[in-house]
Amino acid sequence: MDKKIVFSGVQPSGELTIGNYIGAIKNFAELQDEFNCYYCIVDLHAITVPQVPKDLRKRSLDVLSLYMACGIDPEKSTLFIQSHVPAHTELTWVLNTITYMGQLNRMTQFKEKSRKSDENLNAGLYTYPVLMASDILLYQADFVPVGEDQKQHLELARDLAERFNYRYSDTFTVPEPLIREFGARIMSLQDPESKMSKSDEDANAFILILDDKDTIRRKIKRAVTDSLGIMAYNDEQPGLKNLINIYSVFSNDDVETILKRYDGLGYGKFKEDLAEVVVEGISPIQDKYKDLINNKDYLEKVYKEGAERAEYAAMKTLRKVYKKVGFIPR
Ligand code: TYM
Repeated sequence: MDKKIVFSGVQPSGELTIGNYIGAIKNFAELQDEFNCYYCIVDLHAITVPQVPKDLRKRSLDVLSLYMACGIDPEKSTLFIQSHVPAHTELTWVLNTITYMGQLNRMTQFKEKSRKSDENLNAGLYTYPVLMASDILLYQADFVPVGEDQKQHLELARDLAERFNYRYSDTFTVPEPLIREFGARIMSLQDPESKMSKSDEDANAFILILDDKDTIRRKIKRAVTDSLGIMAYNDEQPGLKNLINIYSVFSNDDVETILKRYDGLGYGKFKEDLAEVVVEGISPIQDKYKDLINNKDYLEKVYKEGAERAEYAAMKTLRKVYKKVGFIPR
């Protein structure tokens, strides 16, 4: 029987955080034996905020290297760069015509971004979720592994798939989000009420996958906790809860075990050990990344082969769509 299809993407718009790792990339490798996986570097999405072209090129290769450093095997999964497959933008146009502006107005990520900067309210930022729906629907993805923050965008993708299928007859698989119960929302180390984000102005708020050991130790030491001083896991102690989540993901220990281990020992000792757990978990990824990023020929081979495989699958869907909406085949 054919394997079910998984699609996901990461923006090359900054250096990746352990939030990206825990919420998304770590899970990608775990899915690749059971599913037919497509993992994309979404450079078209990245230019919805201003980018320095040379940095964008570097970061795209960074994400490709990190994908592989985190265990994604290009022999098993298709790794590719979004702009290499023009079908993404072509399907976006068609889907734009069945997307209601009211729906886009309700997207919380757009609302947040537009609140923060009214200088750069470009149309790309607004239709960003339609491009994301195209990414997913082109590959007929059954499952989309993402962090919590992408849930609303996934709902739009489902909605557009259903609307198109209803109007033009069955064409798209309606995708399901794969959001882990645990680690789907890693919070800022400085403000545990908001998401850890690579675009945070305060560098102490996030840990990058490529931060060196001492930086990781320093950031964890400075992480905001609370004045209760009791090792517990609840929403009244969100800073501590977030740190326990991170500990749990990197150590594979469950929350109970962690609470018992640090009962009465104070936050200081817990943070010290957490830093070592994170350093230990991330070091092998960093080592592999360093090998890969210097091997430009290999990276080129991977993304070229990936683009070919991706294009083949994407074009199959796009041809169907063009036919159904009434375009004359060339
Ligand atoms: P991006 O590049 O912002 O983030 C990549 C992935 O990391 C997850 N993530 C987090 N998970 C847990 N805690 C956090 N603090 C955290 N921060 C980020 C995100 O949920 C995401 O899964 N629009 C997408 C990229 C995209 C995409 C797609 C994803 C484009 N097309 C198609 C899936 C399918 C984005 O901006 O992710």
